[in-house]
Amino acid sequence: MKVAPSMLSADFANLYADIEMVNNSEADYFHLDVMDGVFVPNISFGFPVMQAIAKYAQKPLDVHLMIVNPQNYISQVRDLGAEFMNVHQEACTHLHRTVQAIRNAGMKAAVTLNPATPVVMLEDIVEDVDMILLMSVNPGFGGQTFIPNTINKLQKLRELISKSNNKPLIEIDGGVNAETAPLLAKAGADIVVAGSYVFGSQDPTATISFLKNL
Ligand code: DX5
Ligand code: ZN
Repeated sequence: MKVAPSMLSADFANLYADIEMVNNSEADYFHLDVMDGVFVPNISFGFPVMQAIAKYAQKPLDVHLMIVNPQNYISQVRDLGAEFMNVHQEACTHLHRTVQAIRNAGMKAAVTLNPATPVVMLEDIVEDVDMILLMSVNPGFGGQTFIPNTINKLQKLRELISKSNNKPLIEIDGGVNAETAPLLAKAGADIVVAGSYVFGSQDPTATISFLKNL
């Protein structure tokens, strides 16, 4: 599987060391979690911190916007050099317009679903997106427990994608660890996001390698 360490669980007082750890690991992306205290009940970091990460990151950025009105920040995310701009379906009144605008800005468009949002909500946009992210916890915090229904949902998403000519990547975010990651690999996830499991482990590089080789 591809691996996207979530920098939300990095050591913010020593961010450069953790960026370098990810650079020198088998990780595929930097996953950056932006929270606005409105869409989710927490605030994380914004553009100044992401610019600092982007300056040293040697792998593509996967920017996960847990914010209202994400369409207002497309050019700022593009200017970071992000590969994926990830918006929540629940935060976008005009999701199709937002997805087109992300692509027109030269980025790959990703759409995220909260745990209670059914996969069918993406039925009419699956042709237009590059990645679909299923939240396996309620967004807002690292270190939460994986919601088991995510495995059923992943199966439903694969069925939806199998009927489409377009094949977006499937990413899973929240509660990924030694127990849940093998289940996700078996169920067909392409990318896992892992925050507390990676940065809370004794050897983050080895933990990334474990996930990568599932
Ligand atoms: C949650 C974020 C996640 C979070 C995952 O709202 O979207 O990316 O950092 O953290 P862990 O891996 O600790 O569940
Ligand atoms: Zn995330």
